[in-house]
Amino acid sequence: METGILETFSKQYQQQLIRELRALVEKLDAPSVIKDSMIYSLEAGGKRIRPLLLFATLDAFGIDPNKGLPAACAIEMIHTYSLIHDDLPSMDNDDLRRGKPTNHKVFGEAIAILAGDALLTYSFEVINLLSDHFVSPSAKINLVIEMAKAAGAEGMVGGQVADMEGENKVLSLDELEYIHIHKTGKLLKFSVVAGAIMAEANPRILQDLSAFAHHLGLAFQIQDDILDLVGNQQKIGKPVGSDTVNQKSTYPQLLSLEGARAALQNQIKLSKEYLKKTDLNTALLYEITDLVASRDH
Ligand code: IPE
Ligand code: IPE
Ligand code: MG
Ligand code: MG
Ligand code: MG
Repeated sequence: METGILETFSKQYQQQLIRELRALVEKLDAPSVIKDSMIYSLEAGGKRIRPLLLFATLDAFGIDPNKGLPAACAIEMIHTYSLIHDDLPSMDNDDLRRGKPTNHKVFGEAIAILAGDALLTYSFEVINLLSDHFVSPSAKINLVIEMAKAAGAEGMVGGQVADMEGENKVLSLDELEYIHIHKTGKLLKFSVVAGAIMAEANPRILQDLSAFAHHLGLAFQIQDDILDLVGNQQKIGKPVGSDTVNQKSTYPQLLSLEGARAALQNQIKLSKEYLKKTDLNTALLYEITDLVASRDH
């Protein structure tokens, strides 16, 4: 496959995303400390894989990715909130995120919690900024409902609860899969599904793209577990060994490192099979899938 398409694409849209995220927070009529705290974590870096998936999905349908910018910002806000809360002392108790001190280390726990709350609520306002000429009112309502589901108790929050409850326990593979699919997979999947909803994809393509993203999301978290064990802190920008300290249930812990790597490859294979079935122009989505399989940060 031709390489580098993703790099060019990613550079172009990442810059727009970062500019827009800052502008959206700056225009809020709110105490400066909460805005500073929100911007601190939004701008701390990060791979922006979810926005990229959304943009690449629109591109697969031949739609200008720029049109999806408000939805990409909304997803990145929810993701960033989830990281701020995930790092809190009452959760994973981590001091480093995206290569910088975690939000609560800089702003204190109360502001970190509130910055997360503010990012989550604002995301629902922001997704509504999608142009009416591009997304019909009924598609917008659908997007809002699907985003709420992906982020809430049936989605990411449910997965985070199961993750916490799974500490100091040996889980079955099914239980571990539940955690990964929910805490990470649901929002990642929504990033693709959102693109498909905006593109008014037919039900068959929507189903195949959903299945693609489901397997990709699982693969993404398996690699996150692997990197917690064998990653380089400088590169991943967060502490290595956090899962071990917190006695988390992870793929390497349950299946061994080799078993986790095999499970990752299997999920990548499945995701590519579904992608192939869509018959869309999926070059970028393929490249993102390869990136997830081989990423070192
Ligand atoms: C980290 O997500 C937390 C998980 C859901 C695995 P990312 O690895 O996408 O974090 P950033 O956005 O690049 O910092
Ligand atoms: C967190 O999973 C997933 C969410 C933030 C929803 P992890 O706890 O494994 O993420 P990292 O490793 O801290 O980024
Ligand atoms: Mg966690
Ligand atoms: Mg964590
Ligand atoms: Mg992790």
